Amino acid sequence: MSESLCVIRLGGGERLDWALQAALADREAEFLPYTALESGLRGRSVLFAIGTDAWGVCPEFLSLLRLLRSRQDCLEGCTAGIVVDGESELYTKEAAQELALAANMAGCMFPGKPLVEGTGSLYNQHILARRMGLGWEETYFTRIQGLVDRICAHHAPRFARPRVLMIHASDKRLSNTVWLGRELLSRLPGEFETREISLQNGTIEDCRGCSYAACLHFAQSNTCFYGGAIPREVLPAIRESDALLFLCPNYNDAVSANLMALFNRMTNLLVQQELLDKYLFGVVVSGYSGSDLVARQLLGTLCFNKTVMLPPRFCMMETAHDPGSAQQLPGIGERLDAFAGHMVQVLRA
Ligand SMILES: Cc1cc2nc3c(=O)[nH]c(=O)nc-3n(C[C@H](O)[C@H](O)[C@H](O)COP(=O)(O)O)c2cc1C
Repeated sequence: MSESLCVIRLGGGERLDWALQAALADREAEFLPYTALESGLRGRSVLFAIGTDAWGVCPEFLSLLRLLRSRQDCLEGCTAGIVVDGESELYTKEAAQELALAANMAGCMFPGKPLVEGTGSLYNQHILARRMGLGWEETYFTRIQGLVDRICAHHAPRFARPRVLMIHASDKRLSNTVWLGRELLSRLPGEFETREISLQNGTIEDCRGCSYAACLHFAQSNTCFYGGAIPREVLPAIRESDALLFLCPNYNDAVSANLMALFNRMTNLLVQQELLDKYLFGVVVSGYSGSDLVARQLLGTLCFNKTVMLPPRFCMMETAHDPGSAQQLPGIGERLDAFAGHMVQVLRA
């Protein structure tokens, strides 16, 4: 029998008590202090339950982040989910993204949709509550229970012939991220099927925000309001892949506009199928700083919102400004070898 769920809880009041009681009623769970991470948790299912106050702060949260960032193997082989229970309408997602990146870099994987947030009013439950026919609080508690079930049942898939799709929106001749991405693909063994798609043609329209019904209607004919390369080529290629490798230069501490447009238009795929069986990898390059912000955006968008799995240490982050300078970074060959080896370990049966 696998070990019971372990719960690391920081802060929060009565609402988080009730939520956890309801979600864990039929399940064995071991509550551990965050300091248990000092000696490491190996291969466990973990629920992080964080309560933030009216100003979005949980005093022990910084200590947890510090521990995760300084003990980079303390969650080796673990699978986790996150609950953030806030007293205000703000800051819950920020806390979750920071925690997810720190835990991921400490060896933790996250299934798709690993976050349940409760904002102060619980208004953030209203859409699902209507769909489920429940009250907001009941919806919130039910979602936490569903998350716990998914973490405990989660199995990381492996593939005999992993299909890796690399997507970028950069100038192929000059780009640091494209050079790094191609170097990674060239290091994958022969049984890997790899494909590269460039969004760099300047004609990618951002999502128009059609109604759910209209989006579904277009999606069922394999198109979208705008048509074009996204529904014709990019979304089918995503559907047919086992792993996505996104190449993300840091543009004003965010992914570039074409990549963001693709993320927004992925709703057209999501209305038909979730992407829970696909892995997300990323390469982020900043000219001077901020790669962690871009990595957080990437995991927030694709794993939290678009249901893609986050393997441990999903992202390679480098700092290189001028065209071609990534090739000159000290130790870059070793880091590429290590990241490509890691992709093989995650994906290959
Ligand atoms: C529009 C734009 C915005 C940028 N913003 C940032 C930034 O906020 N922080 C940073 O560190 N680098 C920034 N950079 C620098 C790029 O991240 C850096 O040059 C990186 O190597 C680009 O990757 P690429 O060569 O694959 O395009 C920016 C570059 C551009 C063109």
